[in-house]
Amino acid sequence: YCLNVIYSKETTSTQTILENHFENVSQGILYVADIQRQGIGRSGNWVSNNGCLMFSFKFECSAKIALPVQMMLPLGIVGAIEKIAADKGIEIPSLKAKWPNDVYLNEKKLSGILVNSKSNGKLMQMTIGIGINISNKSPFINLNEVYPNIFSKGEVLKEFISEFSSLVNDTENPGWEKRLTDQYKAKWLHYMKVATLSRDNKPCTIIDINHEGTIIARDQTGTFHKIQARDDIIFS
Ligand code: BTN
Repeated sequence: YCLNVIYSKETTSTQTILENHFENVSQGILYVADIQRQGIGRSGNWVSNNGCLMFSFKFECSAKIALPVQMMLPLGIVGAIEKIAADKGIEIPSLKAKWPNDVYLNEKKLSGILVNSKSNGKLMQMTIGIGINISNKSPFINLNEVYPNIFSKGEVLKEFISEFSSLVNDTENPGWEKRLTDQYKAKWLHYMKVATLSRDNKPCTIIDINHEGTIIARDQTGTFHKIQARDDIIFS
């Protein structure tokens, strides 16, 4: 697997550039920048100053693993940061995946993921954009303020690619669905926690997730609810 990496000191948005200027490339390209003038988040802009690891890459996969891939992204970020920390003898128990696609540290947002996808027959073509607050002043939290001088942008990027690729490659081995959900549950911020169903304001306990990211929650009467969309639930 060959990955061409483009780097800019400053750009508009790695995401918009890959989407608009590399429409015909479906794989094998990653664009990383130190500063974005128009960084985009899922709602509004993404604070994109130097010290934030910001990159986008093209990724093509079979449509049947498109949803699982969305769980592998936060897990890849968590895994990368944990690996670098573990090599230095540090554990980070408060590093968690927040469903559907953020990473939290000490219950504050550390990283956000943006996925634009289009389907092409049995294939799904995605542009995946990731921002991870390494040492920048962020509205939320950065790694360096909690663990000074441990993490560099380059190393986190390299380990992310390696972690994410192993998760994707594992889908070729039988039993990957359970391995994925087990790993997700082990790192999931809201696993076994109480949240509120938006449709009727009912409190419920988050008890399970499947490999496509559908949550199962149980309300106080014992009824099970499926949660598929971000707007179905309020995590407080
Ligand atoms: C979110 O809202 O949580 C998603 C944030 C995604 C930010 C990244 S930074 C690299 C890439 N380029 C962008 O303009 N956005 C994504």
